[in-house]
Amino acid sequence: MHTGKILIVDDDHNLLELVRTRLEAANYEVITAVKGEEAKEALNGNSIDLSIVDLKLAGQDGMSLMGELHAINPALPVIILTGYGSIEGAVEAIKKGAYGYLTKPIDPTELQLQIGRALENRRLVSENVRLKELLKEKYDFTNIVAKSDIMQKVLAGVSRIAQAESTVYIHGESGTGKEVIAKAIHLASERKNKPFVAINCAAVPEALLESELFGHEKGSFTGAVRSTKGYFAQAHEGTILLDEIGDMPLSIQPKLLRALEERQFYPIGGEKPIHVDVRVIVATKKDLAEEVKKGLFREDLFYRIHVIPVRLPPLRERKEDIPHLVSHLLQKIARQLKKDVKGLTPQAMKKLMLHDWPGNVRELENVLEYAVTMAEGEIVTAELLFETGAPMAVGSQESARRAVLLPVDGPLNSLKQARAEFEKAYLIRLLEHCSGSAAKAAEIAGKYRADFYDLLKKHGINLQEFKKTD
Ligand SMILES: Nc1ncnc2c1ncn2[C@@H]1O[C@H](COP(=O)(O)OP(=O)(O)OP(=O)(O)O)[C@@H](O)[C@H]1O
Ligand SMILES: [Mg+2]
Repeated sequence: MHTGKILIVDDDHNLLELVRTRLEAANYEVITAVKGEEAKEALNGNSIDLSIVDLKLAGQDGMSLMGELHAINPALPVIILTGYGSIEGAVEAIKKGAYGYLTKPIDPTELQLQIGRALENRRLVSENVRLKELLKEKYDFTNIVAKSDIMQKVLAGVSRIAQAESTVYIHGESGTGKEVIAKAIHLASERKNKPFVAINCAAVPEALLESELFGHEKGSFTGAVRSTKGYFAQAHEGTILLDEIGDMPLSIQPKLLRALEERQFYPIGGEKPIHVDVRVIVATKKDLAEEVKKGLFREDLFYRIHVIPVRLPPLRERKEDIPHLVSHLLQKIARQLKKDVKGLTPQAMKKLMLHDWPGNVRELENVLEYAVTMAEGEIVTAELLFETGAPMAVGSQESARRAVLLPVDGPLNSLKQARAEFEKAYLIRLLEHCSGSAAKAAEIAGKYRADFYDLLKKHGINLQEFKKTD
């Protein structure tokens, strides 16, 4: 293996051959040139690590050639060769950017030493550039608000594990930012320019999940009119997020386990295995160790995915993040809704600090979105927070029911807001009618169970409250 590619420029053929022999013996690859033109051509067409240039060439002085070589590659280390007694020229060359100089006749030890040092220096410079790039990648985390010590620790851990290939297991309540963290891990990894594919295992009906994950061949089941690529294949060379993995049906778990172990799988109805190179991240709000105990999750799969655990703390455990989250989210929402809302009154902030946030950051985002929508000036007042009828205002079911009736007079809301209010009131009536049976309610609503649960979550509706206790 070569330790570096070196370009030597001198009009003295004997010297060229002498140096070539020495350097090749030391495992360097050598390219020679007698003229400036040749040297530039060689530099353009090769990845040269270092160049040795004679100060006095036949047609051109070495100093101006060095300038031209640096114009092509500014980072190229150049060592100048000078005749005996022209030290001034050498000093001048170093001022103009030469890495060092050697006097003729060339001392072989000195030659090796200078080349070794120059290449090491070059390696350090490019290492530095790489580190700076890494820092820039860290920059991707700036969209994640994490001022509290507890979140700082999470982020530090996350940036350390991003480069690894191991499976990450993100555990946290609803709305704590599991997906945000998963994306950040992907963006900070070497896979960042490859696909990031997320699938919510709870939102896909059991009958379809296997085909969504692994794909299927045409005609493999009723309705499979075309063959499709599954999410795993789509994520090739990138990252796959298996969100809500706790809701993965037991029937599919063995196939997933095998795919994770062997990094290959068979699409439904397919005879040829598909190999994939994917980094796997799983997220769950359920305590999977508990699910294992209950027999709802395979123990072997649990150990397979529980490699690097990341716990996202609920918002109530890091209330010092709230003011920072508020200003971050407020800006984001105001931009999206094109409203000129700039801040909160102190009372409003106090109200947010006192709340317990069962829906975590997502709930905060929803509360702020409602407030920004309703705000008439630049400042959000306390009255606009957890206002009756607000979509995520947990426990405001009575008012939500009333909100269905369009006010005959008084202010009109945006259509989006009105729809959300209607949706919430509808869900509440429906659940009352079905006494909290999600299966029945989802059927009447014409929704998949998982989608129906998503709707309830969006509106902060707790199913238990509708179950008859008598
Ligand atoms: N630390 C944070 N900084 C900024 N925004 C955040 C942060 N955490 C969460 N969010 C925002 O909160 C919302 C919810 O985050 P995310 O979807 O990642 O949570 P989740 O844990 O996956 O929730 P769920 O369990 O409901 O799927 C998103 O809009 C996200 O942008
Ligand atoms: Mg999520």
